[in-house]
Amino acid sequence: TQVLSVASEVAPVIKTGGLADVAGALPAALAPFGVTMRTLMPGYPQAMRMLEDAQPVAQFQDCFGGHADLLAGKAGGLDLLVLDAPHLFERGGGPYLADAGTDWPDNPERFAALSWVASEIANGAIEGWQPDIVHCHDWQAGLAPYYIARSPAADRVKTIITVHNIAFQGLAPAWKMGALKIAPVDFTPDGMEYWGQISALKAGLVFADWLTTVSPTYAAELMTAEFGMGLEGVMRARRDSFTGILNGIDEQVWSPATDPAITPYKAARGKASNKAALRKEFGLRQADGPLCVVVSRLTEQKGLDLLIEALPTLLDRGGQLALLGSGDKGLEAAFQRAAGPDVGVRIGYDEALSHRMMAGGDAILVPSRFEPCGLTQLYGLRYGAIPLVALTGGLADTVVAANPASMAHQVATGIQFHPVTAAALADALNRLCDLYADPDRWTKMQRNAMSQPVGWDQSAARYAELYESLLAAR
Ligand code: ADP
Ligand code: GLC
Repeated sequence: TQVLSVASEVAPVIKTGGLADVAGALPAALAPFGVTMRTLMPGYPQAMRMLEDAQPVAQFQDCFGGHADLLAGKAGGLDLLVLDAPHLFERGGGPYLADAGTDWPDNPERFAALSWVASEIANGAIEGWQPDIVHCHDWQAGLAPYYIARSPAADRVKTIITVHNIAFQGLAPAWKMGALKIAPVDFTPDGMEYWGQISALKAGLVFADWLTTVSPTYAAELMTAEFGMGLEGVMRARRDSFTGILNGIDEQVWSPATDPAITPYKAARGKASNKAALRKEFGLRQADGPLCVVVSRLTEQKGLDLLIEALPTLLDRGGQLALLGSGDKGLEAAFQRAAGPDVGVRIGYDEALSHRMMAGGDAILVPSRFEPCGLTQLYGLRYGAIPLVALTGGLADTVVAANPASMAHQVATGIQFHPVTAAALADALNRLCDLYADPDRWTKMQRNAMSQPVGWDQSAARYAELYESLLAAR
């Protein structure tokens, strides 16, 4: 089975969040199932620099306002197709934002171009290679199922869109319709219109053959007004072609026994030297309570404002916090104000440090208001950093909450709380400190956590099955 994966970020080339990890891990995870996956991504400077053995495989004279070449090559072990369109992607800043933190004004055109090239590939733009399936990720690839549905390839190629986060919908003003190659007949409430605007995500949700999201619980949540962010009706309308498939983690990159960023360990007691090193790195003193870590984008979604409020509870119990993150300026400042002998704060993005934190932390805190899947709690499980998580989305699906029954059956791997309020978080932090104070129960829980499967095996099998069933229906 030949699959074209379409993503706006792909680790290790460029990453702002979990989407990149997933897009980067899928090809290797699916290879054992006979799936050949090539990944189409934008030609950001980072991609152009990393691409090896680049070969031009197609060109487009007018690709949304300029010339573009499609380059095939390798980077970080991935088989990439890179859209080299300097007028769209050759610039500083991030993949979506200028340095000032505002969206690039031409984001609709930039990612429409990516999606349109996916459709051209489905229609044979690359000599000698055509995908059977085009697997699109998030709004940046959302128009691809639409362009394909309106092209000759519609008879041959099946399309999937995976929702990693419904908060990002790819809205554009209606007057851009012509520039985005959208036919007015498709700009309707049954099509891609969203309250008078064009929604690239909705285009994907309406026109793709199949929809997935990254956990079963988030799949159910997306059909409710509380979590659907206005698209719950669309999700419900497509419920017969919609499944939740949990993310895994790349165990080549995330394994405490082989991780080059840490002092490697196989059993949880090997965490001690990593913890000492982490304390030193964050300038924290000795303490009796758990060393809690956070590695996160600092946004409303992640609920870390609640942690600011609940922090005194943790500190009163002798606990400590080490936080790595960036984003919202108010949150950055609030954590910096909280810094002290028991609270260490690094504002920024640091991949190697994130590994050292999983290795050195006793617990990882993820108090998200919503969380489609979440990856850091999975890293925590793998590294024996007990996850303390909100009971929502993928967090609900991946952490087995500690209670007398789960402890007795040796399956408890973490702590959950609900509702997502500062009071409930404070209560959960108290429960964490109680467990930590009981070494017997704590080490059992670490053992359970470290042996819980969090790799891609099961989920890759589910994607492979989905591809097969779509092709069988062709
Ligand atoms: P989201 O995609 O919503 O940000 P996930 O938990 O799925 O949430 O994925 C976040 C990814 O980004 C993880 O791999 C996490 O380790 C990484 N990450 C987030 N913030 C930072 C940071 N400041 N430094 C290093 N890695 C980070
Ligand atoms: C999104 C979600 C996160 C998920 C990631 C990868 O960024 O916020 O929960 O793990 O995508 O699917």
